[in-house]
Amino acid sequence: MKFFIDTGNLAQIKEANDLGILDGVTTNPSLMAKEGIKGEDAIAQHYKTICELVDGDVSAEVLSTDFDTMIEEGKKLAAIHPNIVVKVPIIKDGIKAIKWFTDNGIRTNCTLIFSAGQAILAAKAGASYVSPFVGRLDDGGWDGMDLIGQIRHIFDVQQYDTEILAASIRNPLHIIKAAEQGADICTCPLDSILGLLKHPLTDIGLAKFIEDAKKM
Ligand code: E4P
Repeated sequence: MKFFIDTGNLAQIKEANDLGILDGVTTNPSLMAKEGIKGEDAIAQHYKTICELVDGDVSAEVLSTDFDTMIEEGKKLAAIHPNIVVKVPIIKDGIKAIKWFTDNGIRTNCTLIFSAGQAILAAKAGASYVSPFVGRLDDGGWDGMDLIGQIRHIFDVQQYDTEILAASIRNPLHIIKAAEQGADICTCPLDSILGLLKHPLTDIGLAKFIEDAKKM
């Protein structure tokens, strides 16, 4: 399973990248706004900076919801760097746009996936990635990981090439479960990635080794 970081924060991207385990970055309008990135030029520059920091795919989301504007936006985003993947919402015009981008050699990440049917449509349109939102499903009382497993099964049976990008990850257990369910990628907040490191027996064991090392 590949690890992406789900943020627009450059310090966090750098910290995850320095671990040597980072395969890419996902952003969305909320994450970009949180960093105070405003205006077309600033947005493009921020994506360029992220692409220069990380050797991997960087999802950049369109801000419009109609076909023509999504195409114009997506073309501009894709021109920023070869690693840019245009993120498109799963709506009617979004599916049309994904098909257009696919036919024109632009890679896409279909976002806001909450059902297997939406994932099938995105895969049929040729999306490079689908992003099922695990945490938001869990928040509403559904089981987000069940959806990852269901999409994995369908994509395997149907031999779709579209990669499953588990998104809206809230904690280390989500990452472990996404790996179990066969997600191709997990996009995570930095805290969830670092949370995988933690175990009290590791801390106790290391303290003892450090103490005993003084006797060597
Ligand atoms: C990533 O592609 C999604 O936009 C993101 O994971 C959503 O996460 P959230 O539900 O924590 O906002």
